[in-house]
Amino acid sequence: MDSAKKEMPKHIGIIMDGNGRWAKKRNLPRTYGHKEGVKRVIEIVKACYKLNIPYLSLYAFSTENWKRPEQEVSNLMFLLRSFIDQYLDELCENGVKLNIMGDVLALGDKTREMVMDAVKRTESNKDLVLNIGLNYGGQDEILRAAKALAQKVEAKEINVDAIDKEAFERELYTKNQPPLDLLIRPSGELRVSNFMLWQLAYAEFWFSDILWPDFTEETLKGAIDDYQCRNRRFGGV
Ligand code: IPE
Ligand code: IPE
Ligand code: MG
Repeated sequence: MDSAKKEMPKHIGIIMDGNGRWAKKRNLPRTYGHKEGVKRVIEIVKACYKLNIPYLSLYAFSTENWKRPEQEVSNLMFLLRSFIDQYLDELCENGVKLNIMGDVLALGDKTREMVMDAVKRTESNKDLVLNIGLNYGGQDEILRAAKALAQKVEAKEINVDAIDKEAFERELYTKNQPPLDLLIRPSGELRVSNFMLWQLAYAEFWFSDILWPDFTEETLKGAIDDYQCRNRRFGGV
């Protein structure tokens, strides 16, 4: 089949990993790696926009990343606020709708307000849904969905029998979105680190030793090319 005719992924997820090692290689503090990593975010969002990818999910901060030194955590939150400050207009111009996956209540007031404002400002955009995992964990997301459904049963709003795949998915942060087609993890680690556990059920995995700050539009296109050569069977023959 001509590769131009091959199907593009509708939903790409990226575990943006390797910032610390990128900085270490240059004898710089880890914060420099994070700062450089943020620049890649806007580039990759724009690349997805150009490629007509309708859904992009980026892992920015996990429920486990609170284990890091306080200074690193506050620097990451600062970089998140700077990202919004610097790029929100550009995101709007590119038709990007921002959706946060994760519990924003645990973020500081300033960060939470900026994030929620950004979500509000982009809510009517339609070209590209950008999910950002912020204080996100796949297990946490599944637990929350289970609790929400249990509460509905307890309140007699629904019957236990009504809990099917669709009902469950309506309680996830990715409500009304297609599942992940392609999961990209740079930095050489071969694991999913609690990212989108439900949504990746039939995703194609693409791993690379490239560190996130070195990840370019070409890297993304390479991953998509590889994806297009995969034979997805979904359990069929
Ligand atoms: C990813 O880079 C950024 C976040 C997890 C926030 P890391 O900070 O994990 O970089 P490495 O894995 O130490 O190189
Ligand atoms: C995953 O990277 C989380 C994000 C990229 C936000 P980590 O660096 O936290 O994952 P582990 O510790 O290598 O599994
Ligand atoms: Mg890491």
